[in-house]
Amino acid sequence: MEIRPFEAGDEARKLRVQRELFLVGRQSGRVVAAVMAGYDGHRGSVNYLAVDPQYRRRGYGAMLMRRIEELLAARDSANADVLAFYQRLGYAADDVVALGKRLIPD
Ligand SMILES: CC(C)(COP(=O)(O)OP(=O)(O)OC[C@H]1O[C@@H](n2cnc3c(N)ncnc32)[C@H](O)[C@@H]1OP(=O)(O)O)[C@@H](O)C(=O)NCCC(=O)NCCS
Repeated sequence: MEIRPFEAGDEARKLRVQRELFLVGRQSGRVVAAVMAGYDGHRGSVNYLAVDPQYRRRGYGAMLMRRIEELLAARDSANADVLAFYQRLGYAADDVVALGKRLIPD
């Protein structure tokens, strides 16, 4: 599978913000996998990851995750968690599963 950055003509998302964090995997020219991520200056998040059902269990999902991890790890990391501050402003934990992985060991 060949991994490329987002190109016009793919699904028209993320055109204006961090489009370099939207990758698609192509097999014989056809999009068979995709991942979309974001970086807020401190944390990276993977919002979408999908592999065409016909192409699953071939390592493509893992390939895309490794590439997106490289792109996220290459970005600057700064700032500390300020949970109490956000709680004070009315933020609370959402009822979603969030999985984390530290890419920069500091
Ligand atoms: C989840 C998904 C992206 C995995 O893609 P994939 O290309 O099939 O995954 P890979 O082949 O790279 O698998 C990587 C490893 O995970 C394992 N794995 C993959 N799917 C698995 C599953 N459903 N259950 C358990 N293990 C699984 C593989 O066996 C492999 O293990 P290994 O490294 O020990 O060999 C794919 O199943 C998918 O698109 N699912 C639907 C969309 C979705 O749920 N996306 C996640 C949104 S958060």
